[in-house]
Amino acid sequence: MGGPILLDRPLIERDMLAQRVVSLAEEINADYELTQRPLSVIVVLKGACFFAVDLLKRLHLDTRVDFLRASSYSGMGSTGEVRLHYDITMPIGGTDVLLVEDIVDTGLTASWLLRHLASHNPASVRLCTLLDKPAGRQVHVPIDYVGFTIPDEFVLGYGLDYDEGYRNLPAIFIARPANYSEMNDASGKGD
Ligand code: IMP
Repeated sequence: MGGPILLDRPLIERDMLAQRVVSLAEEINADYELTQRPLSVIVVLKGACFFAVDLLKRLHLDTRVDFLRASSYSGMGSTGEVRLHYDITMPIGGTDVLLVEDIVDTGLTASWLLRHLASHNPASVRLCTLLDKPAGRQVHVPIDYVGFTIPDEFVLGYGLDYDEGYRNLPAIFIARPANYSEMNDASGKGD
């Protein structure tokens, strides 16, 4: 279990989040508006929910929504194992798929999920992430839409948790724990 943590000033204020969501939605609307196919938005639980709901309300496309839940384990020198706890139930074959993540860190979860979704034979698969933390990357992941590129810090709020807490904060904060690795262990990576 995680102990008390210190929250710095917000790294990304709620107004900046709202403005970026609007511009991301405009980009996505423009990119998909000429396709004759539905857009399947697949949201990674739990962290991406807050971002995805705000984004979805701004899409003017023939859009369907489903959810999945996964965790990644990259410790002990392994190449990383991703476990799927909950899968989509909606058929996505022949549709354009947009995977919505809260943050791409090592890239293990997103790259595994992109391959998993591609196995359903969609017309296309793209990735949209609110946050990109490139310093943590272990595997290359093609990211089509990025909200914000952030430094190598543990962040909380707007869906992102520490030990299941703090998700409901309306802005993104940098957390300064006494022990960073302890925080990584408790974060429940991938949800
Ligand atoms: P990846 O497989 O390392 O890219 O893991 C992505 C997942 O790790 C995200 O969906 C988050 O659940 C978690 N994660 C990575 N960095 C942070 C962070 O700074 N704060 C909270 N969760 C994080």
